[in-house]
Amino acid sequence: MSMPAYGDGGRAGDFDSSETRGAATLTKDAAPGEVLLKVTGLRKHFPIRKGLFQRRVGAVRAVDGIDFEVRSGETLGVVGESGCGKSTMGRLITRLLEPTAGTIEFEGKDITHLGVGGMRPMRRDVQMIFQDPYSSLNPRHTTGTIIGAPFKLQGVEPEGGIKKEVQRLLSVVGLSPEHYNRYPNEFSGGQRQRIGIARALALKPKLVVADEPVSALDVSIQAQVVNLMDDLQRELGLTYVIIAHDLSVVRHVSDRIAVMYLGKIVELADRDLLYKTPMHPYTKALMSAVPIPDPRRRNARSERLLLDGDVPSPIAPPSGCRFHTRCWKATQICTTTEPPLKELRPGQRLACHHPENFADQAPQDTILLSAAKRTTEPGTPGGRRTAGTAGG
Ligand SMILES: Nc1ncnc2c1ncn2[C@@H]1O[C@H](COP(=O)(O)OP(=O)(O)OP(=O)(O)O)[C@@H](O)[C@H]1O
Ligand code: SF4
Ligand SMILES: [Mg+2]
Repeated sequence: MSMPAYGDGGRAGDFDSSETRGAATLTKDAAPGEVLLKVTGLRKHFPIRKGLFQRRVGAVRAVDGIDFEVRSGETLGVVGESGCGKSTMGRLITRLLEPTAGTIEFEGKDITHLGVGGMRPMRRDVQMIFQDPYSSLNPRHTTGTIIGAPFKLQGVEPEGGIKKEVQRLLSVVGLSPEHYNRYPNEFSGGQRQRIGIARALALKPKLVVADEPVSALDVSIQAQVVNLMDDLQRELGLTYVIIAHDLSVVRHVSDRIAVMYLGKIVELADRDLLYKTPMHPYTKALMSAVPIPDPRRRNARSERLLLDGDVPSPIAPPSGCRFHTRCWKATQICTTTEPPLKELRPGQRLACHHPENFADQAPQDTILLSAAKRTTEPGTPGGRRTAGTAGG
């Protein structure tokens, strides 16, 4: 893909960042590889209220104690089934939602409970790209107004004026400067997402959180948008957190991948390790659901693990390991004791009592729970099956 150049190739583009960002910059930039964002024990419980007095009767534990860090210049992919808390996590780290517990540090500064004023400088550094380019752009505003809004909100006057800078951003994302006066409904889904990306990049953020940036787009357009994000990352030194509901989207762009299940991170590993030797049974099951795109491997017989049952409710998650109601390896300890997320190999952290691809993986001398046992018996409903041919 031919990419319009960003001037000096740095994050600053046509105007010097020190001029326009000025005193608003919190601390000095993190060097590549340094921790940019650090999340510890992060929780978000949405209260459930009932009755005349709106009494609190419970809570949706959307994000329920997660720890991870994002390093400068990397792409962290976040995957998991619908409802596991990915978007909530994204909104927490961009501080669009107030956490119930835990801490969020950005460049070493605790931003967990910063108010609107305190967050203003941070807003430039952390931006979000939303899933649905149809609903995330105001249909009554022109492209120019939409992409120019962050400058107005932050009181930033780029060199040459906002219009010139917006037109430059339009060409950076592969649109034409002439699109400045057009409305969102004049664009296709892929073009709208490019507008969303231009808006997110306007203030030259350090961290971009993209919540399923391509899932609303045609498959043929998805690769173009993913490639654009990839090119922009290289040119501008961006750091990404990319949320997706399956592993195929994040596979090629992520350096590390976090797998979420019911509000928890169950595995967090370097991309290659995760694909070659997934250690959490849930990761393995997710992976086996990804079609094999390589035509030479089309006829390879591969094991497909079909997960038993639905995702349990985040209002009352299962005791112990939350995955035990669907795991084919679950034993007694899995129902009572929550496995902590620990590093079992350099670059691979996971939360499981009986990890895959590990010396102590098989619970041979322990008794499998009946649900687990059922899933290991081929041919039983919800059982572990071997698909004839994987791929397609
Ligand atoms: N504002 C809210 N109030 C109450 N519950 C919420 C709210 N936002 C999300 N939830 C609930 O929190 C859980 C996690 O939702 P979230 O949107 O973060 O999941 P997700 O992983 O992004 O799912 P999807 O893949 O469908 O986008 C879900 O059970 C959802 O219904
Ligand atoms: S083996 Fe146990 S701890 Fe590991 S994923 Fe299965 S149920 Fe959870
Ligand atoms: Mg979501």
